[in-house]
Amino acid sequence: MTTDTTTPEAGPAASPGTPLLNASGVTMRFGGLTAVRSVDLTVNTGEIVGLIGPNGAGKTTFFNCLTGLYVPTEGTVSYQGKVLPPKPHLVTQAGIARTFQNIRLFANMTVLENVLVGRHTRTKEGLFSALLRGPGFKRAETASRDRAMELLAFIGLESKAEHLARNLPYGDQRKLEIARALASDPGLLLLDEPTAGMNPQETRTTEELVFAIRDMGIAVLVIEHDMRFIFNLCDRVSVLVQGEKLVEGTSEVVQRDDRVIAAYLGEPFEGAPGDEELAEVEAAESATDSTTSTKGTEGAR
Ligand SMILES: Nc1ncnc2c1ncn2[C@@H]1O[C@H](COP(=O)(O)OP(=O)(O)OP(=O)(O)O)[C@@H](O)[C@H]1O
Ligand SMILES: [Mg+2]
Repeated sequence: MTTDTTTPEAGPAASPGTPLLNASGVTMRFGGLTAVRSVDLTVNTGEIVGLIGPNGAGKTTFFNCLTGLYVPTEGTVSYQGKVLPPKPHLVTQAGIARTFQNIRLFANMTVLENVLVGRHTRTKEGLFSALLRGPGFKRAETASRDRAMELLAFIGLESKAEHLARNLPYGDQRKLEIARALASDPGLLLLDEPTAGMNPQETRTTEELVFAIRDMGIAVLVIEHDMRFIFNLCDRVSVLVQGEKLVEGTSEVVQRDDRVIAAYLGEPFEGAPGDEELAEVEAAESATDSTTSTKGTEGAR
C-alpha cells in the first residue's frame, strides 16, 4: 500500500522543475564584437542557477539581454512560456527583477524610499509619482509601506529604514538593492555579483539570504566570481567563456571539469570557444608565411 504524500497547499513554489525562464539562441553583437553567442539557458521554478566565467565573458551582457536593457541581435527570451518584449519595465512587470554589478540606488533617498520605488511596478502609481510624492503616492505608500518594511526586516535592514542610502556601508547597499528588487514581487531574481567587495562574513549572510529567497518561491539566477559561494549555493551552474556556453551542470560536475579550470587559468584547450577563429588565423598566417618563404611552390592556394 502506498501513501499519498502530496500536500494540499502545494503551489508553484512546491513544484520545482517547471521552466520559468527560457533563453534561446541569444546573441549580442556590438559592431564587430560578439559579446554573447547563441546562448541557451533555462531556469526552473525552485532553482538557484549560477552563471560564471572569466572577466569579459559576456555574463552581464547576457543579463542585459534577459532584462530588456539590450535588444539581442538574435534569439528570444521567454518567461512562463511567453516571449518577453525587450523593455525593462515590461520585463519587471512580467516577473523578473535584477540587481546590478555596479550598485544603482537613489543615494539621497532613504533606505525605505528606495524599496518603495522598487514597488512602483506593482502599484497603480508610476515612478514619477513615487519620486514627487504626490497625493496618489501617499495613498499607495500606506499600502506599500508594510510590505517594504517586511522586506527590510527580511534582509536585516529594518533598523536603518530612515538612513540615507548613501550612508550605508557597502555590504548593506548591496542588500538594499536585493530588497528593492524583491519589492516588485518577482518570480525570478537575477543577481549580478551580489557579494562583490564583501568580507567573508557578509558573503556568508548573502548566501543564506539567497537560500531564503529561493525558499520564498523565487527562482534565482546569479553571476559571481566567488566560486565557493557559487558551488555551495547553486543547483546548476552554467559557464560562459568568450560569449559562449562552455559547460553546464551541477556544481560537482562543473568544478571538476578541466575545461572550466583551463578557461579560468587562461590555458588553451581543444574545442575552446574562439578555437576555430584562432585556427583560421593561424592557418592564414602560415599560408602567408609559406607563400613568402617558398615562392613559386604549389599549395599556396
Ligand atoms: N555596451 C557595450 N558596447 C560595446 N561592448 C560592450 C558593451 N557591453 C559590454 N561590452 C563588451 O562585451 C564583452 C562582455 O562584457 P560583459 O560586461 O558582459 O562581461 P562580464 O562577463 O560581465 O565580465 P565581468 O566578470 O568583468 O563583469 C566585453 O568585451 C565588453 O567590453
Ligand atoms: Mg559583469
